[in-house]
Amino acid sequence: MSGKPLAIVRTVEALRAQVAAWRKAGERVALIPTMGALHAGHLSLVALGRERAERTVASIFVNPTQFAPHEDFEAYPREEAKDISRLTEAGCDLLFMPSVDEMYAPGFSTQITVSGVSEPMDGAARPHHFGGVATIVAKLLIQCGPDIAIFGEKDYQQLQVIRRLAKDLDLPVEIVGGATVRGPDGLALSSRNAYLSAAEHVTAAKLNQILKAAIERLHAGAAVADVEAEGLRALADAGFSPVDYLDVRDPDDLSRLGPGPLAGPARILAAAKIGKTRLIDNMAV
Ligand code: PAJ
Repeated sequence: MSGKPLAIVRTVEALRAQVAAWRKAGERVALIPTMGALHAGHLSLVALGRERAERTVASIFVNPTQFAPHEDFEAYPREEAKDISRLTEAGCDLLFMPSVDEMYAPGFSTQITVSGVSEPMDGAARPHHFGGVATIVAKLLIQCGPDIAIFGEKDYQQLQVIRRLAKDLDLPVEIVGGATVRGPDGLALSSRNAYLSAAEHVTAAKLNQILKAAIERLHAGAAVADVEAEGLRALADAGFSPVDYLDVRDPDDLSRLGPGPLAGPARILAAAKIGKTRLIDNMAV
């Protein structure tokens, strides 16, 4: 327990005033955007922020524009009181928790589209998702004006979309990736894991085992196309349905690699559903 109080602001104006005061005092600021229902994965990003900057700001905003109408916006877990005590314990300085109206004023009409890196995989499976993510992250970066902003490698395609966005818009911020925090069975921590039954949880853990087996095959010189086909089959056999993708891609621009054996670094990424819960995972190759 750090004992340091966590200040809470709900307006852009109050956020800007606090960050400006820290800046004036020569303190560096790290922003960690989240949708709440915080777990050890999110809190590891706060810890990374505390290593890299004097002040950490977390945001909690369940962003309606990155959910499709049939997705889980309404059901998405909201745990405001618990999140406040988790952030206090983690030693976070400020929580920005705006309302939907604060973020999307009447008449809101602007949309940021990052083409290329946002198009395959989750971009194909969830067509409006990265437009919503890019727009809200651009707003948060402009509202807060942090020195660094930290995102998890757990959502690797999101991280690469945000890196592209910050570069293309000349946003004066360093985008930092934090390693994926996993449970003892290898399952990447996710707010959506709360939807899993005990039996589904056992199956869910196989997603990471299948990625690890695929990486071993790639290291042994197997062809990318074969490893992708085997991985898709293994996910279906394990009980995932539907399986959205299992791809081996360039770690920076996420372009396709293969079909033959790998010649350099790569990232393996997969998404699949188990029951009603959609899971994603990825690892460096
Ligand atoms: P959310 O899913 O709440 O995740 C917030 C941040 O925590 C993201 O950067 C995500 O990659 C990271 N994260 C989630 N699980 C993690 C884990 N197991 N280990 C390490 N980091 C993890 O991602 C979003 O919210 C939203 O799309 C957002 C960027 C806030 C825009 O609305």
